[in-house]
Order: sequence, then structure tokens, then C-alpha cells
Amino acid sequence: MTANSIPAVQPAPCVPAAGSDFLSDAVAGLSSEPQTLPCKYFYDERGAALFQKICELPEYYITRTEIDILDRYRAEIATHLGPNIELIGLGTGAGTKTRILIEALEKPAVYIPVDISDKQLGESAAIFHKLFPDLEILPVCADYLQPVALPSPHRKARRNVVYFPGSTIGNFEPDEATEFLRRIAKVCRHDGALLIGVDLRKDRDVIEAAYNDTAGITAQFNLNLLARANHELCGDFDLQHWRHRAIYNSDAGRIEMYLISQVDQAVHIGDHTFGFRAGEKIITEFSHKYAPEGFAALARNAGFEFQKIWTDDARLFGVFYFTCSPDTSG
Ligand code: AVJ
Repeated sequence: MTANSIPAVQPAPCVPAAGSDFLSDAVAGLSSEPQTLPCKYFYDERGAALFQKICELPEYYITRTEIDILDRYRAEIATHLGPNIELIGLGTGAGTKTRILIEALEKPAVYIPVDISDKQLGESAAIFHKLFPDLEILPVCADYLQPVALPSPHRKARRNVVYFPGSTIGNFEPDEATEFLRRIAKVCRHDGALLIGVDLRKDRDVIEAAYNDTAGITAQFNLNLLARANHELCGDFDLQHWRHRAIYNSDAGRIEMYLISQVDQAVHIGDHTFGFRAGEKIITEFSHKYAPEGFAALARNAGFEFQKIWTDDARLFGVFYFTCSPDTSG
């Protein structure tokens, strides 16, 4: 064989992961009207790192305020949750908030962190094992937006408490949030409880600043969805031709994040072609904000009894404590 006949090295063809939910969800979202891409796909490795940076931004009050509330009221919260509990954490990520909570609890028995990010789950479980050697820790890597089978612990706890921090509940439409909480109520039956962090309604300016930060990190976080589609789905989004924008819809009480096409363009994902006019937008995230009474009413509908809300002085954020209504939990 002569040197001439050696075939040129072909670049590896891009093959989207077979059976990927991202592929079917992206194609469905971009084929619908209005066009959407689901926000749960923000959190690949780069996205999770960008979200960490968002949490430290001066404009992004959410994480800082929730941590301050936990810090300030940890003893009181722990008294409400009581001793010897099984704590089920949904989307607990790096575990900063859960650590504060567990440190305050009296003899917690079991901790089941459920998170979509494998890396964060493994890292935080290792740290928690060292910090709390007496705690039975059973990490579950799963998309908790879907029904998840929870492991059976060896230890018998006095009650189950679901902890859902971060105002992630805001990503649901209110009726989806009710459905989701109904599923949680089933986990909490027999004297269980729910501790949940929820971003509260407030001035438009404060909210819009939090999602349009001057350092442009939220823009990178939003655009990363397109970069991820390019890598994982063999897409050809030109990131130069898209802009991030977040607008507060005060009627619906939610921030709406968009990616706005800057030019007329066509984008391909696999065999699919999507056309966009200049100014056309893809909805990437809704983040609902609630008045305290509004959220208590929503949770009541799902089978929870409001017990307590802890907030900061400016009432930016609420940590709600609900018990499970006995009748609706069966
Ligand atoms: C993780 C859903 C609570 O809505 O504030 C932050 C995600 N998006 N900046 C939020 C997010 C843009 C965040 N949640």
C-alpha cells in the first residue's frame, strides 16, 4: 500500500446519543408554537458550573437569601421537623443548604439526596458521609421531575420530610406544581412534612436584574443550552446569532427567559430543520414567583397544611413548612 492510498482521517461523525430524551424533547419543543427548549437541560457540567456562578452574583438574591434564612432560623426549623427523621432532598446539588439543615437537626436517621447531576451527587454524598458518619445516606441520581422509586433505608425513621430548596418549584406552571406536590404528598403520608424554598413576588426591577446580570453570566448559562444542543445533538446553532433576554410577566407572576434570534436563520438538529426570523424567540425557562398566601393555597390543593413561613426582612424569599393533610395522603 502506497502512502497515497492511505485514506485521509475522517473526523468522527457526530452521532446524537441514541434514545436521548434531550433529542426528542428539543425536537418537540422547537416544533411547537411558541418554540421552547426545556430548562432542565441547562445543567450539563458547564451549565451546573455556570449556575454556581449565578448563585454568587450580586444581583441574584435567591440563593444568598435562602441560605441566610436557613442560617438564621435553623434551630426553629429543626424543632418543627423534629428528631430522628428521614430527609429526602430534591435537587439538593452541592448540598450547601442541606448541610446547614442537617447540622441543626436532632439525630437525623436517613438522608436521601435526589439530583440530576451525577457529579454533584457523588461529591456531596462523599462529603456528607465524612460530616455525618451516623447518618444513613442513600443518594439517587434521577430526574425527580419524573416519578422516582426511592430506596428503602435500613433505619426506621419517625417521619419522612421532603426538602425541596432553591425555588425550583417555580419552573413548573402552577397546575403542574400542584400535581408535583400531590406526588410528594404521597411520600409524606403518615405524619410527614414538606420544607420548600420559594421565591416571592416583588418589584419587577429586582427580579429582572437577577436574571439579566451585568456580568452576563445568565446569558452564558442560557446560551449554553444551544452549545449543549450542538455538542450532544449535532446541532448547528451559531451562538453569535442569539441573544439572552429575561422579562418579568407580572400578570403570570413569572420571569420568562428567552433566546432571541438576531437574524433570519435556519438551524439543523439531525434531520430536522428549524427556521427562525430575526426577533423570533425560543422560551427556555419560566420561573414563577408566589405571594405567601398564593403558595399556601396551591400546596393546600395538593394535600398539605400550611404551618409556617420563614422569610428575610425584605420578604424576598420564603422557606415554607407544611405538614401532610391526613385525609388526602392515601
Ligand atoms: C434553579 C430554577 C431556581 O429560576 O432562579 C437562575 C434557575 N435561571 N437564573 C431560577 C435560573 C436563571 C433558577 N432555579
